[in-house]
Amino acid sequence: MLLNKIEDVRKQVAEWKKQGLKIGLVPTMGALHEGHLSLIKKAKANCDKVVVSVFVNPIQFGPSEDFDKYPRTLDADTKLCDTESVDIVFAPAPAEMYGEGQRLSNDTLTYVCPPFFYVNKLCGKSRVGHFDGVCTVVMKLFNIVQPDCAFFGQKDAQQVIIIKKMVKDLNVPIEITQCPIVRESSGLALSSRNKYLSEEGKKDALALSKVLNNIKACYQKGITDVSALKETAYSFLTDKHDLEYLEFVDKTTLEDKEKADRETLVLVACRVENVRLIDNIYIEEN
Ligand code: PAF
Repeated sequence: MLLNKIEDVRKQVAEWKKQGLKIGLVPTMGALHEGHLSLIKKAKANCDKVVVSVFVNPIQFGPSEDFDKYPRTLDADTKLCDTESVDIVFAPAPAEMYGEGQRLSNDTLTYVCPPFFYVNKLCGKSRVGHFDGVCTVVMKLFNIVQPDCAFFGQKDAQQVIIIKKMVKDLNVPIEITQCPIVRESSGLALSSRNKYLSEEGKKDALALSKVLNNIKACYQKGITDVSALKETAYSFLTDKHDLEYLEFVDKTTLEDKEKADRETLVLVACRVENVRLIDNIYIEEN
């Protein structure tokens, strides 16, 4: 069932809650691909009813980012959700979420601001205000749907860590589940932004997963010094790759690592054909 109004979602969810059903939420910005499908399947397996939100959230895009260009494929998304027997696709208009004619800024709206330490690094460093926008919309979706569980992809690892922190700090009674990255057989992590890449660009984009897999292989051979591990990346990068960051952090606290260990998450961001791509790997897990 496709719903656009907050009130309609609330009514339906209230019915389910009366019946004691367990509700799962998969927040998305649409342009659904296999990565999203893995979240939906996990939600279906763990919950009685599943709500997928499809909302390209204006307040998480910076002024020079791709908000207008971001792929919007609601018909295809709804069909895909139907094949997975999703119970509600919630696709509100921006005015439904933020009010008609409202100027969208933290002068006019109440925002959820995650701690500076968590946002002033990795993606947050170049995307100032991004995680304020993400946490604000996710908190709104949590309040609208009031799910028992919510499902996010590891591809946006910093996002999941920040959302878990928000849920803990604000005592939000929702269980957060992170699902593994889904990759093409080539190793390329699935992303709605892959649509912007040419065939050539897709080949160049493989450097991200190659860099990460090679770092993991070097670690398995006993190299733990982060500077040495970072050096190994350069053999995969050419002038087609505009590296934004390659960082080693604690997988829960996002603290920087000087020596890699079992708690280490390695994250990379790089522009290929001016498309910003991200990927990450747990250095000790499969
Ligand atoms: O990961 C995304 O697609 C978005 O950041 C999210 C969580 C749906 C919030 O808009």
